[in-house]
Amino acid sequence: MTTPSADDARPATAGRAAAPESGPSDSPPARGQNGDQPLLRLVGVGKNFGPVRALTDINLDVTLGQVTALVGDNGAGKSTLIKTIAGIWPQDHGEILWEGRPVRLHSPKDAAGLGIATVYQDLALADNLDIVQNMFLGREPVKHWALDETTMEKEAKRTLADLSVVTVRSVRQPVGSLSGGQRQAVAVARAVLRQARLVVLDEPTAALGVTQTRVVLDLIRRLKSQNIAVIVISHNLNDVMAVADRVAVLRLGQLVSVGPLSQYDAQSIVELMTTGTSGRRAAAGSEPSSQQPAGSSSEH
Ligand SMILES: Nc1ncnc2c1ncn2[C@@H]1O[C@H](COP(=O)(O)OP(=O)(O)OP(=O)(O)O)[C@@H](O)[C@H]1O
Ligand SMILES: [Mg+2]
Repeated sequence: MTTPSADDARPATAGRAAAPESGPSDSPPARGQNGDQPLLRLVGVGKNFGPVRALTDINLDVTLGQVTALVGDNGAGKSTLIKTIAGIWPQDHGEILWEGRPVRLHSPKDAAGLGIATVYQDLALADNLDIVQNMFLGREPVKHWALDETTMEKEAKRTLADLSVVTVRSVRQPVGSLSGGQRQAVAVARAVLRQARLVVLDEPTAALGVTQTRVVLDLIRRLKSQNIAVIVISHNLNDVMAVADRVAVLRLGQLVSVGPLSQYDAQSIVELMTTGTSGRRAAAGSEPSSQQPAGSSSEH
């Protein structure tokens, strides 16, 4: 697979931008493909780093109870996109709608306030603290002037059980002693405990072996069954095929294709990631193709 330099400036003519999946943004309430209002809708979102067009005219719907796989080669803009959703890099262009209402995410706190939880690859867990302490960090319940350890432990156990996490022996185990898959589970459980409605996972299986990967994929399915929306970044197309409901392909900062998993196979995804087009995807495509010239980032 070709790997464009991460420092490439985004050529304004690379590929063609994907069209919105449903009606224009000025016709509220915004409805997703299946008639449901999307939880999150990106309309013409763009983000520049100086001369680098990291994201151009991104139109994407994310729906409750669905897993959206965000794929693309190195430097395609995946991390930038999720950091925009997470409030780390506010977009320069376009609009973000949450349950149909325009929102401005200026900080991670804004995103967390809406119920957006991002699980980054480094996971940001405190190795020296145990599972319970990590899950409640900064939000510990207090009873009689002391931390309510009993409630915390009970809630931690319940949340892990709800996610079918069975491999953790004790919630009093320090997180530093956990396997990669178990650490992912704790980070996801923390998001669930905080009542996240959208969980974004940045390459959750990248460092994992076969068994642990299966654990994380099961975890993603559990999130879905709890009617939580999931965006998962992955370079592993087997994982994508195993767990995604929808696929969104980024290339050179543009969304070159988005649609239900059934419209893709691994080969078409690779073609889209590397060239921006795919014969198979084009033949199967039921969603509108671009009506906009590439690079014409919509500025709302
Ligand atoms: N903080 C930053 N400052 C300047 N340029 C940046 C910054 N972050 C990302 N970029 C640029 O934006 C583009 C997209 O990068 P991004 O990290 O989003 O890609 P990615 O799809 O996550 O890649 P990877 O698969 O390698 O993680 C790249 O050209 C990158 O160099
Ligand atoms: Mg990245």
